[in-house]
Amino acid sequence: MMIPTHCHLFVFLCICLLVTTADEDCTLTGYSIFDGCTCLNSSLTCFGEGGVKNLPPQSKIPRDVTVLTITGYVITRLDTSSMLGTLDELVNLDLSNNKIEIITEDSFSGKNFPKLKILSLEENNVNETTYVTDDTHIFKDLSSLQELNLRKAFTSNFTRSETFKDVFNSLDYRHLTKLILSGNDIEILNTEIFHHANKLEEIYLSGCNLIMVNNSTFTMTTLPQLKLLDLSNNNLMVFRDDVVEDFKTFDSNQTEVNLTGNPLECICTSMEFIKWLKNTSLVIEKEFLTCHDSDFTGRHMVDIDVSKFTCDDDDDADDKNVFEPTFHAQYVILFIIFGILGLLALIILFMRRNDILQFCMQVRQATKDAFDSHQTHYTYSGIQNAKRVTPEEAGVASV
Ligand SMILES: *[C@@H]1O[C@H](CO)[C@@H](O)[C@H](O)[C@H]1NC(C)=O
Ligand SMILES: *[C@@H]1O[C@H](CO)[C@@H](O)[C@H](O)[C@H]1NC(C)=O
Ligand SMILES: *[C@@H]1O[C@H](CO)[C@@H](O)[C@H](O)[C@H]1NC(C)=O
Ligand SMILES: *[C@@H]1O[C@H](CO)[C@@H](O)[C@H](O)[C@H]1NC(C)=O
Ligand SMILES: *[C@@H]1O[C@H](CO)[C@@H](O)[C@H](O)[C@H]1NC(C)=O
Ligand SMILES: *[C@@H]1O[C@H](CO)[C@@H](O)[C@H](O)[C@H]1NC(C)=O
Ligand SMILES: *[C@@H]1O[C@H](CO)[C@@H](O)[C@H](O)[C@H]1NC(C)=O
Ligand SMILES: *[C@@H]1O[C@H](CO)[C@@H](O)[C@H](O)[C@H]1NC(C)=O
Repeated sequence: MMIPTHCHLFVFLCICLLVTTADEDCTLTGYSIFDGCTCLNSSLTCFGEGGVKNLPPQSKIPRDVTVLTITGYVITRLDTSSMLGTLDELVNLDLSNNKIEIITEDSFSGKNFPKLKILSLEENNVNETTYVTDDTHIFKDLSSLQELNLRKAFTSNFTRSETFKDVFNSLDYRHLTKLILSGNDIEILNTEIFHHANKLEEIYLSGCNLIMVNNSTFTMTTLPQLKLLDLSNNNLMVFRDDVVEDFKTFDSNQTEVNLTGNPLECICTSMEFIKWLKNTSLVIEKEFLTCHDSDFTGRHMVDIDVSKFTCDDDDDADDKNVFEPTFHAQYVILFIIFGILGLLALIILFMRRNDILQFCMQVRQATKDAFDSHQTHYTYSGIQNAKRVTPEEAGVASV
């Protein structure tokens, strides 16, 4: 009788231990398991498995959570007030990959997350924010925010709209050090986008289909803390002289610029850029940058000898490819010389056409005379002979 009791007690203790070890790492008050969610220390992680699982209701999210990950759901319309409520301790919020299309105006304002430092809305389809005005905009009150990840967060329609500009013009940049906008179809960057962002250290704009960088967008004055500017994998072809001057303002010991994967052109407009590139350490992996225009395709930019460029002095954006590489020029000159010679020959022939005609007539007359003196009277054989001669005569006459 004694032994089984001990046994029961032992099993009970074991179960107790197991349960406590499973819960031991979760420090959230009142956390109860919700389907799809796990808890570790003060972090709550919920996976929706592509919308298979239900979102955890607000009441199931402990108020003292510091790291909250809600990913893989179908949210469509994001309204954090009703979804999460106020989370005073929240430091890191990850809402990536939730098929979010609309963000309501009070989602990240209204002081629901006073300590939020890191926010991710990566991989969503945001095409609308409600009621964005000067006073209400989606990121207004995230005054502690240090890192904002918006990689592939927006649709093309949205990134090209006025609303998108407003979002950034009004974003509270006081502490923002890292902004990830990679993978959004932006194309043309608003010059003023970073003008209130003087704490930014890292800007990621990789794969944004950017076609140009305006002057005064990236300068030491507007971005004094900048350490990394990622402009890789865009459609940037040239950097105008004033943009090169902007780049020159940065200290290359502090700042790095990544220009990998752009269809850079080695044309007159790029001359200042190429000169600068050879002599700067601001651009990382610059020795791998190659030319993408027809004349220098595949050549390394830092190896291009800009003194070989023959550009017009009125150096403008329109003067594409005014210069030729020297070997090319030789062929062109040879071609022109032959062309001129051919033309001269034709002109001489034309001017002497009367002499030539006269000469032909003389030849024809001479042939006829010789024929006539040989055959004094026409016979059938004579006619046959004449017929044989005629084509030659005609040929000579027509020359
Ligand atoms: C959980 O908290 C403990 C003690 O606070 C810490 O040692 C551990 O690294 C934390 N675990 C994780 C995954 O953060
Ligand atoms: C955003 O997308 C949804 C679904 O595709 C569509 O119904 C809505 O009209 C779109 N909004 C805007 C502003 O384009
Ligand atoms: C973009 O917006 C236009 C007009 O607002 C709409 O007709 C079109 O369907 C939108 N495209 C997408 C992919 O939502
Ligand atoms: C870029 O600069 C040009 C002229 O300097 C200006 O017309 C254009 O609006 C600017 N683009 C942006 C997006 O600020
Ligand atoms: C930027 O470029 C525009 C036109 O290209 C020019 O008018 C303006 O002065 C430039 N700004 C600076 C600061 O160089
Ligand atoms: C950058 O660093 C090098 C060596 O570390 C130093 O010689 C140079 O003066 C620095 N340049 C600037 C602008 O601080
Ligand atoms: C520059 O960008 C390319 C493409 O995005 C990336 O593969 C590479 O690692 C970057 N270089 C550095 C030094 O970060
Ligand atoms: C390269 O840069 C150094 C200082 O940064 C400067 O003294 C030198 O003149 C530059 N060389 C050329 C060819 O621009």
